[in-house]
Amino acid sequence: MAQSPAVWLKERLPIDPVAEAVRHKTVPLHRYSIWYYFGGMTLFLFGVQVGTGALLLLYYRPSAGEAYESVQFIMTRVPFGWLIRSIHAWSANLMVAAAFAHFISVVFLHSYRRPRELTWMSGVVLLGLTLAFGFTGYLLPWNELAFFATRVGTDIASAIPLVGEFIVTFTRGGPDVTGATLTRLFGVHVAILPMITTTILLVHLALVQVHGMSIPPGIEKSLKEDGGAKLRAMPFVPHFLLREMFGWTVALALLAGLAAFYPWELGAKADPFKPAPAGIQPEWYFLWMFQVLKLIPPTIAGINGELIAVLALAVVGLAVFFLPFLSTNARRQRIVRSLGWAALLFMAFMTAMAVLTRGSAAQP
Ligand code: HEM
Repeated sequence: MAQSPAVWLKERLPIDPVAEAVRHKTVPLHRYSIWYYFGGMTLFLFGVQVGTGALLLLYYRPSAGEAYESVQFIMTRVPFGWLIRSIHAWSANLMVAAAFAHFISVVFLHSYRRPRELTWMSGVVLLGLTLAFGFTGYLLPWNELAFFATRVGTDIASAIPLVGEFIVTFTRGGPDVTGATLTRLFGVHVAILPMITTTILLVHLALVQVHGMSIPPGIEKSLKEDGGAKLRAMPFVPHFLLREMFGWTVALALLAGLAAFYPWELGAKADPFKPAPAGIQPEWYFLWMFQVLKLIPPTIAGINGELIAVLALAVVGLAVFFLPFLSTNARRQRIVRSLGWAALLFMAFMTAMAVLTRGSAAQP
């Protein structure tokens, strides 16, 4: 007797354990539940980037002689090329914003606590990778703004003793930003970063499934005080997933609107022999670091100021990576919240300062 397709497939693909896990997955309901949507939003926007990026690859050419012209061709001649390129550029910005909102929520809700240390650490790496996507993608249209911003951005590493010059030469593919840099950053942007990101993302998502969604300590405490009341929860499929999909549809509509009304600009072609025009700045999410480097004095107590800034950033980065092991009790969680607010205010202030003084001061 012929088998039904469902039985045939089940025999070859044991999906029952997966279906069972999905059936039992729930999302806690409390006043901060809205923050559970940001990881999924980041994931959706990553999907948009992979899809639109693959389409751009059909026409883009990664060389100093052809990159700018190929993007111009995509924007003016390829049917819907302008839409795909503008969505890719806008979605990159939204993805950084969503990943950052997700990161902030994990900090303030203390979701990094035991047993989610590895979920957190894989997340910190994902945030770094998201920023690396932004940095490497910025140069690809080979326009003036990106060219000079990449020159300034890659030069920062030269402040590091011993290995600084090597890092600069390695990232640029030579002593200066040239066509070799473009080809190199292209390879990193379309092959190396997607490969690493996909792998770490799978680990991150698997860990989220293993541990389930966390409950903020404040909510846990109020439940205990309520005589051990049980928290309400929503089934992940279909209730939470449908809400997530609604959010993704809104994001897609927003992207389409932004692309249609504010197509991503191309600017003038990069000319390495021209002096840097005024107002060269990196993408908005790097502005605060750029401003810190601009303000720091050339030397502090005889030490290179830029080196001090780079080292301070490295220390903060390490502390963030190991946060679950540093913030282990209620008192330390309060300190993390205060430091979190201070860091947010500092970054917002530096970003505002960079925007307001755009083009009015020398490059760092
Ligand atoms: C490419 C970037 C990222 C993607 C696509 C992503 C995706 C997700 C998804 C889908 C979830 C489950 C839903 C949710 O809690 O929002 C999640 C949870 C989580 N993520 Fe991420 N994430 C990313 C970056 C990060 C970053 C930067 C951090 C923090 C350093 C982080 C830490 C966590 C933690 C601790 C959880 C568990 C939350 C809980 O149990 O309440 N993730 N992530």
